[in-house]
Amino acid sequence: MRIGLVGVGRIGAFHAATLRALDGVEQVVVTDADTPRAQVVAKELGLEAVADVETLLGSGLDGIAICAPTSAHAELIARAQDAGLITFCEKPVASDLSGTRLIAARVADGKVPVHIGFQRRFDAGFRAAREAVTSGSLGWIHTIRANTSDAAPPHASYIPTSGGFFRDCSIHDFDAVRFVTGHEVVSVYAVGENRGEAFFAESGDFDSAAAVLTLDDGTIALISGSRYNARGYDVRLEALGSKDSVCVGMDDRLPLRSVEAGVAFPSGTPYASFMERFRQAYVDEMVAFTELVAGRIETPCSVQDGLRAFLIAEACALSRRDGRPVRMDELGT
Ligand SMILES: NC(=O)c1ccc[n+]([C@@H]2O[C@H](COP(=O)([O-])OP(=O)(O)OC[C@H]3O[C@@H](n4cnc5c(N)ncnc54)[C@H](O)[C@@H]3O)[C@@H](O)[C@H]2O)c1
Repeated sequence: MRIGLVGVGRIGAFHAATLRALDGVEQVVVTDADTPRAQVVAKELGLEAVADVETLLGSGLDGIAICAPTSAHAELIARAQDAGLITFCEKPVASDLSGTRLIAARVADGKVPVHIGFQRRFDAGFRAAREAVTSGSLGWIHTIRANTSDAAPPHASYIPTSGGFFRDCSIHDFDAVRFVTGHEVVSVYAVGENRGEAFFAESGDFDSAAAVLTLDDGTIALISGSRYNARGYDVRLEALGSKDSVCVGMDDRLPLRSVEAGVAFPSGTPYASFMERFRQAYVDEMVAFTELVAGRIETPCSVQDGLRAFLIAEACALSRRDGRPVRMDELGT
């Protein structure tokens, strides 16, 4: 198959390399608003580069992967739908709720499937946690704790088009809570603070945040995250139950240092970035996308899933702004 890819930045170049290496992918054709960048990446990875999205869409593709900044996702998904191309799009679906809802309506007939890139759904640990929770082996879940913290902030120019901390970063945890528990969020209370560089506040964003979510079965989920976790890239999810408890991300590379005497764990080199932590999940995600293109599976993460996670992010942004709990039904469906 011939796969197109838009935006060869941090994640796009990695997905392009993964796709190129997959059996069944004959060619990956890339484009980027920064044309020289597309040409350099194409040369490095043995891909084809074209000048713009228009040319890409008309180049005889079987599917398309959208890895451009979040602010460009909605328009690009719509154009791919018009071209009848099965699409992978990085999270989130769009940078605002109206754009996300427009895309949800646009793809509702399911004729041209779209796969949204929440790679935790392909991570072995998150899958095992889902199995543990949904099988009932943990009993009833009293608390979920989920955290996503970057070792260092993304480049400053990423922030204005990112949608902000909840929509860009915590959204992974919001989707993971839904994925692992199979339950929906009914209310949120969120806070966010700015103690790092000025460019966050200048975009109306913040660098560290937390939220309390209540799920429809009464489970409490505590979400936290920061752009400044210098010890390493820290992604964890704990599912604490009435019978047993499990933790995703508690391996030897966990970026935490015990202050207890005689405790050597964890002893490995902490994860530096999402690329190190989720390398295999990203590969499995691209394999699933090509399976979707081949018509062998249904989308593993739909735009509806993207909308549900985005609504939680939106509720958290509203809660932080107004300093009050927000019920999900305030936002509609
Ligand atoms: N799933 C994950 O773990 C994960 C990790 C990182 C980023 N992302 C998502 O991937 C997307 C890209 O993030 P990134 O960190 O790679 O950003 P980036 O800034 O490193 O790269 C974006 C690239 O897109 C290009 N570009 C900008 N506007 C474009 C347009 N309209 N058309 C074509 N190309 C355009 C830029 O020149 C750049 O090369 C974001 O939506 C982000 O949320 C997901």
